[in-house]
Amino acid sequence: MTFPVVGMVGGGQLARMTHEAGIPLGLRFKLLSDTPQDSAAQVVGDVVVGDYRDLETLRGFAQGCDVITFDHEHVPTEHLRALEADGIPVRPGPDALVHAQDKGVMRARLTEIGVPCPRHRIVTGPEDVVRFAEEGEGFPVVLKTVRGGYDGKGVWIVRSAEEAGELFLDGQSRAGVPILAEEKVDFVRELAANVVRSPHGQAVAYPVVESVQADGVCDMVIAPAPGLSEELSFQAQELALRVAKELGVVGHLAVELFETNVGGTPGLVVNELAMRPHNSGHWTQDGAVTSQFANHVRAVLDLPLGDPRPRAPWTVMANVLGGDYPDMYSAYLHCMARDPQLKIHMYGKDVKPGRKVGHVNTYGDDLADVRERARHAADYLRGTIVE
Ligand SMILES: Nc1ncnc2c1ncn2[C@@H]1O[C@H](COP(=O)(O)OP(=O)(O)O)[C@@H](O)[C@H]1O
Ligand SMILES: [Mg+2]
Repeated sequence: MTFPVVGMVGGGQLARMTHEAGIPLGLRFKLLSDTPQDSAAQVVGDVVVGDYRDLETLRGFAQGCDVITFDHEHVPTEHLRALEADGIPVRPGPDALVHAQDKGVMRARLTEIGVPCPRHRIVTGPEDVVRFAEEGEGFPVVLKTVRGGYDGKGVWIVRSAEEAGELFLDGQSRAGVPILAEEKVDFVRELAANVVRSPHGQAVAYPVVESVQADGVCDMVIAPAPGLSEELSFQAQELALRVAKELGVVGHLAVELFETNVGGTPGLVVNELAMRPHNSGHWTQDGAVTSQFANHVRAVLDLPLGDPRPRAPWTVMANVLGGDYPDMYSAYLHCMARDPQLKIHMYGKDVKPGRKVGHVNTYGDDLADVRERARHAADYLRGTIVE
């Protein structure tokens, strides 16, 4: 064997950027993609088009791969077990990944290992949601599908039995998967602690970031989280490293956190886990010595991990959402001329309103300036400002 073949399941932008990070290392990539037009399928040479939910498709795809890793968390756990039984390294493995696939399993396990979570339990219908509310602070209550959600799809804040009732039909969850109820956390802001762990057990922690959400979608990430105390930052990194170790994670782990302030004391509560490169780590492409994508690839191949430290005092990532104006390329002229330090990352996706089609990174010494440049570029690309 010379250079290994990394098999990625899922053809989205995370696979595209992971592939990009593997190019300088001379790695070969093989992709299992839903369609030949998917973001990563446009750039990876060896693409299998097929359904990741079909075991035989997965088995065929895995032939010739030295390791399998993921762009998304939706491959059924039993299929991953079957691939492992066939002797193919799956990283992260099914026993770890299930905690990123199923929010009910994740809550149970994190609670067991003493990681702070919102009050939660699986609910069976609207009356049960009312009971859950009455057991605590009352409404509003957050309801989530345990599997299949992303970008806020699959999360509802309900204020009454009637509202909760819309998620159920004849005593069954309409989504076809169990519903998890959570106390609505009164958070100050959302943070993410990103770590990478290798099969060896080596691990690195990136600076803790603030992630600003708009309508359930990540809008901007600020690295490091402004004003976060050293103590809380250290706590968040330690928590993420502990979760990675306890759950046996291999590769990138994003721990989405709520920063709380109960009675004037800052604290942390875990929202959810992602075991793959994550939107809250996109800033590392231009803002850290080693990007999350490069470290994910190193980890799944059990290579020594790269330095996670920042290159600049501040890095800001802003997501570029599709606007009503489909020709984003024409906006490059203005954006690049205005800010020569701007880094644009586009995913090759059709521009549709509200869809994540790319992101920009900016960095520098002055947070207000770095933030303004990122905001401007993302808005201009979207077409919401015209100069
Ligand atoms: N228990 C909660 N309390 C308050 N807000 C929440 C809670 N759970 C989720 N949210 C809000 O909803 C967003 C999406 O929830 P999340 O579980 O992360 O779903 P997704 O899988 O779509 O990212 C979170 O980023 C947060 O803003
Ligand atoms: Mg989330």
